[in-house]
Amino acid sequence: MSAEDLLAGSSISTALLVTGGHGQLGRDLVDAANRHGFGFVTAADLPMLDITDSTSVRAGLTSLVARARVDALRPVVINAAAYTAVDAAESDVERAYGVNAHGPAVLAEACAEHGVHLLHVSTDYVFDGDATAPYRPEDETAPRSRYGRSKLAGELAVLAAECPAHVVRTAWLYGAHGGNFVRTMARLERSRETVDVVDDQRGSPTWTADLAAGLVGLAAAADRVPPGVLHCVNSGETTWFGLAQAVFTELGADPSRVRPTTTADFTRPAPRPANSVLDTACWTAAGLPALRPWRDALSAAVAAGVLVDRS
Ligand SMILES: NC(=O)c1ccc[n+]([C@@H]2O[C@H](COP(=O)([O-])OP(=O)(O)OC[C@H]3O[C@@H](n4cnc5c(N)ncnc54)[C@H](OP(=O)(O)O)[C@@H]3O)[C@@H](O)[C@H]2O)c1
Repeated sequence: MSAEDLLAGSSISTALLVTGGHGQLGRDLVDAANRHGFGFVTAADLPMLDITDSTSVRAGLTSLVARARVDALRPVVINAAAYTAVDAAESDVERAYGVNAHGPAVLAEACAEHGVHLLHVSTDYVFDGDATAPYRPEDETAPRSRYGRSKLAGELAVLAAECPAHVVRTAWLYGAHGGNFVRTMARLERSRETVDVVDDQRGSPTWTADLAAGLVGLAAAADRVPPGVLHCVNSGETTWFGLAQAVFTELGADPSRVRPTTTADFTRPAPRPANSVLDTACWTAAGLPALRPWRDALSAAVAAGVLVDRS
């Protein structure tokens, strides 16, 4: 089934609020929902809507529900707001937990009060990375970092609330808006002869535009997909080294200028899982279209201008 088939008929009857709507994923979500003809789309971010502040959240939901009622639309919130600085979260614990754990709890409680469906975005970093196969939603979580623990707490708060909800874990995001690994590699290609990149962490690089199309598909079909945890990433897997080489190749540069290194030789404040590849069988089993292979997505993203310097 294509995303178009899935969205046909149901997108037009959906009113969507994207929290964290000015972030990397949030902006692509708004574009995707507008492109697919959602009945109503609005983006909210700091300072207009703070997900940690229940007054601010209730005001946002009240106006979403009022707007939905006018046109008999089904109100849905996609929460793309987060504290995403993985290394900074090791020391900035209070803020990370405030946004990633308390914020989703506030949102979920307000969604339950207003009868609004919540689609909450989470991360592969809830897993410890010791598995040898891709992670399924039901696999045991054991985050290594404070960021991962704060995101897991947010997932649990959403799942415990009485609103209809989906938690969607994704991974290794890059998009046109904001800083990310792919854009960093493009910058380093211009400024350095060689770049050392870790080759012992595996994951699923995911273009935010593809993820956004998948998430708005789920938002439109939310009442037909059993609630719970889902995984959504571009298919396939690689290491950060493999991704960096692919970026160099896309730029027409020699990929051998990227050299493999190890996590042990590239210490960071936050520990990362060695394997955080996500199994997306749950996504397709729910009738949702699989995202294309990560390498094809990267080519499409580059052609769409994801590497254009916006500074
Ligand atoms: N980036 C990745 O590689 C990755 C991987 C796996 C999962 N994810 C998950 O994917 C989701 C989207 O990530 P992203 O890369 O799009 O993140 P992002 O670019 O950092 O966007 C997050 C947005 O949330 C906003 N925000 C922060 N605190 C808020 C608050 N209290 N209330 C309302 N908005 C707030 C941020 O505003 P400010 O910029 O002003 O703080 C920002 O606009 C997150 O749930 C993240 O955990 C990301």
